[in-house]
Formats: sequence, C-alpha cells, structure tokens
Amino acid sequence: MLESYLTLKAEFEIIPMDADDCRAVSILHGERFARPWGDGEFYSLLTQSNVFGFVARQTNAFLKKPLPGFVLAREVAGEAEILTVAVQAKVERSGLGWRLMQAAMREAKQRGGESIFLEVDAGNVSALGLYRKLGFDQVGERRGYYKDVSGAVSTALVMKRVLR
Ligand SMILES: CC(C)(COP(=O)(O)OP(=O)(O)OC[C@H]1O[C@@H](n2cnc3c(N)ncnc32)[C@H](O)[C@@H]1OP(=O)(O)O)[C@@H](O)C(=O)NCCC(=O)NCCS
Repeated sequence: MLESYLTLKAEFEIIPMDADDCRAVSILHGERFARPWGDGEFYSLLTQSNVFGFVARQTNAFLKKPLPGFVLAREVAGEAEILTVAVQAKVERSGLGWRLMQAAMREAKQRGGESIFLEVDAGNVSALGLYRKLGFDQVGERRGYYKDVSGAVSTALVMKRVLR
C-alpha cells in the first residue's frame, strides 16, 4: 500500500481559478517570481469581469498539496493577454505549463479574443521554450524593462499568437 503510494505518478486536472484560490496562487507566485503579488492583488484582478484564470490540481493526492500551477489572463475587445503563469519548480517539465496556457488560450478565444499577447524576460529559457512551442512569435522588445531585486536590468520580449 505504502509502496504503491510512494510510486504513484501525480495526475493533474486544470480547472477555473476562483476567489478561494487567490491565497495559494499568491504563495506560488511568490516562490517563482522576484516581485510577488499579494492575494489581494490576485483577488482584485480575478473579480474583474474580463479577467480569468485556471489552476492545476493533483487529482490523486491523499494529502492536501500546495498548488501545482496557475495562469491568469485578460481579454478586452478582441485582444487577450497572459498576466502571469507559473508551475511549482518540482513539477516543471511535466506538461502543466502547456495545459494551463492551452486552457487560457481556449477561454480567451471563447470570450472573443482574436489574438493573445504576453511579455517575457529575454533570459527566461523555459518560458520562451513554452511560448515558442505554443506558436507565439516575438513582435516587440523593451530594453531595460525588468529590474530584479539586485538592480540588474533585462529586456522584455513582447510575443503574440493569433487565436484561430
Ligand atoms: C515557464 C513555465 C510556466 C513552464 O512550465 P512547465 O510546466 O515546466 O512547461 P511544460 O512542461 O508544459 O513544457 C512545455 C514545453 O515548453 C518548453 N520548455 C519548458 N521548459 C523548458 C526549458 N527549461 N528549456 C527549454 N524548453 C522548455 C518545451 O518545448 C516543453 O515541451 P517538451 O517538454 O515536450 O520539450 C515554468 O518553467 C515556470 O513556472 N517558470 C517560473 C515562472 C515563469 O517564468 N513564468 C513565465 C513568466 S513570463
């Protein structure tokens, strides 16, 4: 019994984010980004009618686990935008980022989005790999846009994908 529990492969579902998720989303955001957003910021975004999000949940966990991943996006007048996306470091590269992004892109299209934009640090290899694989193309560049806690600056790339 214990052996099968220990070897159990985690399985996840992607479900809409709701207000009760904001605390867990904010904790994961704080783990993955240098400038954390508080749960109040997530709550005030999520309660705007043009903002939506998805979270990943492990479906075969015996104990309550920290949130594995989330995405938050917005759609206004045909243009959608990924506001933030992250997965837990220990479940990276298992397809969750892909599934969360697909859910956000599908929802953006259903809301009338014709294209979707995002900004990414030019040095963020994993995110760039994910976005390119999803069909995003670079459409702009903002030099010196990001500043980390040590004061180092980096370039933001603006990427776009048409929602077909
Ligand atoms: C970016 C992030 C969301 C990717 O999530 P993920 O669940 O690890 O990504 P996936 O497993 O779905 O990967 C999908 C594809 O993205 C690409 N990719 C992901 N990580 C990569 C890496 N380290 N190097 C190169 N390509 C990568 C690959 O093409 C991958 O497909 P493959 O595994 O079949 O080769 C995750 O790394 C993360 O949370 N990073 C910290 C927060 C962050 O930077 N968010 C984005 C801000 S713009």
